[in-house]
Amino acid sequence: MIPPVDPAGEYKALEREIDAAVKRVLASGQFVGGSEIGDFEAELGEFVGAEHVVGVGNGTDALEIALAACGIGPGDRVAVPAFTFAATVEAVVRVGAIPVLVDVLDSNLTIDTQALAARLRDGDPVKGVIPVHLYGHPADMEALLELRADRPFVIIEDAAQSHGARCQVGGSRRRVGAIGDAGCFSFYPTKNLGAAGDAGAVATNDEAVAQKARLIANHGDISKYEHTLADGRNSRLDAIQAAILRIKLRHLDDWNAARRRIAATYTNQLAELAARLPVERAGAESVFHQYTIRIADRDAVQARLREREIVAGIHYPRAIHQQPGFAQFSEEGASYPIAEAAAAEVLCLPIYPLMKDRDVNRVIKALLAG
Ligand SMILES: Cc1ncc(COP(=O)(O)O)c(C=O)c1O
Repeated sequence: MIPPVDPAGEYKALEREIDAAVKRVLASGQFVGGSEIGDFEAELGEFVGAEHVVGVGNGTDALEIALAACGIGPGDRVAVPAFTFAATVEAVVRVGAIPVLVDVLDSNLTIDTQALAARLRDGDPVKGVIPVHLYGHPADMEALLELRADRPFVIIEDAAQSHGARCQVGGSRRRVGAIGDAGCFSFYPTKNLGAAGDAGAVATNDEAVAQKARLIANHGDISKYEHTLADGRNSRLDAIQAAILRIKLRHLDDWNAARRRIAATYTNQLAELAARLPVERAGAESVFHQYTIRIADRDAVQARLREREIVAGIHYPRAIHQQPGFAQFSEEGASYPIAEAAAAEVLCLPIYPLMKDRDVNRVIKALLAG
């Protein structure tokens, strides 16, 4: 069986180091807070190029906390791509804001900044935008920054699928998650940087945003039992997860490079397949969280792979406005044709850093066999 992801394989590769780190935390008795958290936050900040990182409970909380820390609240309009994981939109709703769905680009399924620009020109009072770096592909941050030079709005990056991806911004190459006002990471076990459970982080270069995020995530507690917020909460990064993430972070660049090599093999070998293969935008470096093809008879292809014991995922089978919980946010007269086409066509091939060449070749052969 070729799985779509392999978190157990990652553990096996680092077993001794991870076991020792977990034991170290257990022996310290410091299960919440402590040096592992601070060290991981500093190391992730260094890695992505953010001055501040606040560890939180998971990626969904990271989005919600970042929105609130950036001043987004009840009634504010926040633009989100119409094709993403539900959490992006959920977080907007949870802070009382209104998700404004924007269609995605046909080329890489990230937010269509021209469609967003048209909305802004029409006078939509959008206060925030969440670009999602979907499948490891950076959204067009340069275009977003240009847009907001004319018409300010808050940018909160959803980098849950893109740890380490880079894009061109103003003549330099920067890691996603440290370009907008805040960047949100999930360390769900199957992510490029995955914990052994739920974990997340908010990255920012704005000290005030970092302080606010830290307060919100820890009951608004400014010093022991002085609570400065009524709507604080508990969303802390777990010390054992931080210790594991510190070890895996040291391998992230190599593991992302391995993903890129597998992606290049797929792209070279699958050219004759009647499918659209992923394309990297000029100046951007994807970390291929997913290798997603778009193919007309997607469900049949997925079933054929399954017969050959190859598990390919569908992320996601519905666009946001096609989800029962979110249909209410589909505005009258608006349409999201690219998001809908993507939902009908995407098929995510197995890809993980320690995937064996022979398994990559088996997937290719199975796809080309038709
Ligand atoms: C694009 C995107 N945003 C947000 C999340 C939410 O992260 P988590 O599952 O850690 O809450 C995920 C991951 O599942 C995701 O893929």
